[in-house]
Amino acid sequence: MKKTIAVIAGDGIGPEIVGEAVKVLKKIAEKFGHDFTFNEKLVGGAAYDAFGDCLPDDTLKACKTADAVLLGAVGGPKWDSLPGPQRPEKRALLTLRKELGLFANLRPAKVWAPLKGASPLKDEIIGEGLDLLVVRELTGGVYFGEHSRAADGQSALDKMPYSVMEIERIARTAFESAKKRGNHVTCVDKANVLETSRLWREVVQKLHDAEYADVALDFMYVDNAAMQLVRAPSRFDVILTENMFGDILSDEASQITGSIGMLPSASLRADGFGMYEPIHGSAPDIAGKGIANPLATILSAAMLLRHTFGLQTEADAIERAVGKVLAEGARTADLGGAMSCSEMGAAVLAAI
Ligand code: IPM
Ligand code: MG
Repeated sequence: MKKTIAVIAGDGIGPEIVGEAVKVLKKIAEKFGHDFTFNEKLVGGAAYDAFGDCLPDDTLKACKTADAVLLGAVGGPKWDSLPGPQRPEKRALLTLRKELGLFANLRPAKVWAPLKGASPLKDEIIGEGLDLLVVRELTGGVYFGEHSRAADGQSALDKMPYSVMEIERIARTAFESAKKRGNHVTCVDKANVLETSRLWREVVQKLHDAEYADVALDFMYVDNAAMQLVRAPSRFDVILTENMFGDILSDEASQITGSIGMLPSASLRADGFGMYEPIHGSAPDIAGKGIANPLATILSAAMLLRHTFGLQTEADAIERAVGKVLAEGARTADLGGAMSCSEMGAAVLAAI
């Protein structure tokens, strides 16, 4: 298979972790006879320093014309004083999501058996393990509604719009995902307060009854969901939710797995095109030290192969290799070990 991958490593630990993931993808290409071209571009603060723009046209174009995008992380204290719209998070990340039409964000959170002890939850709460998927709507809601400040500076407004079309397509992603997993969707909202949530409930229920009646569906208020995630996380299979609730709940879900350094993500369009990134950030405090955990990015590369290229065997090979090195005791600092970023990458390569 011949494919081009836009590689935008970004800031902080981005270049270190993405470097290891690219080595893994090259190894997969060699082993399974694929031809992957890596088109590396600057994004985030790194691009701002070089070109005065966190998302230069050239980078956006490279992403739009690639078959898939691999992203590290953007942002850091150096660029925190930029005006809102120019900041790496808004200008690079949110613009990429919108421009590429990536409305479906998949954030799987699972406890890897060898890392069970790393979870802050008690054994009896974790039970047999924990494996859930947050399906977060990524291009609508309050992130992309109007943001404004009154002329007198005495009030501000953030609008939270949602259309039936936006809700229906993300609900479809959640039901389709659930069919491949535990066949259970929990739609998380705040329908006791928000009109958008009431629309979500109607649209999700209607789609369920018409096309996915065989998938179990329940609804939960977001405050309760935040509580159930630490009280009884195994009650969840797929959590379907809007943009901001998904942002918050996915960070919470990541922590119950033990390390945010293990969690990959996919941001997808309906045709399968996607951008893949670890859910953790640029970690400026440890950048350049070579101690970051590359596994979340390596697992994101596996998701890329599975979801955008349809390469199941290759994706499985990466995930099995990660399971194997963890079982053998490979640990970076976030997992309580002393392995460097490149040593962890090399261990995964060897296991493949
Ligand atoms: C995430 C991040 C982003 C978000 C920030 C950096 C804008 O927290 O991907 O979860 O809120 O979506
Ligand atoms: Mg977040």
